[in-house]
Amino acid sequence: MKKIILTGDRPTGKLHVGHYVGSLKRRVELQNSGEYDEIYIMIADAQALTDNADNPEKVRSNIAEVALDYMSCGLDPEKSTLFVQSYVSELTELTFYYSNLVTVSRLKRNPTVKSEIQQRGFHSSIPVGFFTYPISQAADITAFKATTVPVGDDQLPMIEQAREIVRSFNSTYAEVLVEPNVLLPDNKACMRLPGTDGKAKMSKSLGNCIYLSDTPEDIRKKIMSMYTDPDHIRIEDPGKLEGNTVFTYLDAFCQDELFAEYLPEYHCLQELKEHYQRGGLGDVKVKKFLYSVLMEELAPIQARRRELEKDIPAVMEVLHRGSRKAKETAARTLSEVKHAMKIDYFD
Ligand code: TRP
Repeated sequence: MKKIILTGDRPTGKLHVGHYVGSLKRRVELQNSGEYDEIYIMIADAQALTDNADNPEKVRSNIAEVALDYMSCGLDPEKSTLFVQSYVSELTELTFYYSNLVTVSRLKRNPTVKSEIQQRGFHSSIPVGFFTYPISQAADITAFKATTVPVGDDQLPMIEQAREIVRSFNSTYAEVLVEPNVLLPDNKACMRLPGTDGKAKMSKSLGNCIYLSDTPEDIRKKIMSMYTDPDHIRIEDPGKLEGNTVFTYLDAFCQDELFAEYLPEYHCLQELKEHYQRGGLGDVKVKKFLYSVLMEELAPIQARRRELEKDIPAVMEVLHRGSRKAKETAARTLSEVKHAMKIDYFD
């Protein structure tokens, strides 16, 4: 069986370092591993509209931004198909057919939908499109017969629900769809990088994100005001690592080789942590080190972004080309689906 990847992001803003360690970086590694036959990376604009129906301009303006983030991180249009969800109208058609296989109570139990309904304050006025987006996400995945979906752990319930839809479809009609496997980050800190304020999730509305495209000066300021251990007041005080955002970011980004260059008094992260816990190590020193570590990773990405930004029409052309290709693939699956459902009268 072919090994196929599909994953994507909602274009509701520029991508941040949480996206990067949670998924983007891994995608690039998977792409370059040469182990996959096909890779589809989707800008989920239709899904973004399910909770931004009144703000199409926000979604539109972030299409190119997300594409720039993708390409500057190393997603290569020669190896991965980068496409825009709404162009592939077959996905909407699949969603409609799959929705017959899903109950309202099952959707209500989806933990991600549940918590997003709370976050967005929808209460009893939940848009139907938003409520049913797990079904649309199952369509995104299955249209490409994806075997592997690399995502952050907040997306686990979506993949679980997609697997159920596949099983239900295949047993009701015919073995057409492929059950996808989720691929989570292997490092716990990367699973869900907290915001700079220590809150569980990075979110634009909370203003606690470090964006891939932030200027070095902004990144420095954000790191310097990061949440650490509130009881670590004087340098001599012992410090806590749990819930200490600076150390969580170091867990996600630091490689021990970087000590030699930026903080030669230590050899590895473990040594730094032990000193912090003992007392005698100030937050500012750790934060400055984190800044160097982060910029080591982001500087090449930012340099590529500046190049790509010079020719936005070329970036849009990459998306157009990818979208045409994705549409062809999805159309083949849709026609198999319709055949299995016995609604292929005129073929
Ligand atoms: N829900 C994902 C997010 O919020 C985006 C997405 C849409 C997606 N369809 C997908 C991810 C299919 C993986 C597979 O980031």
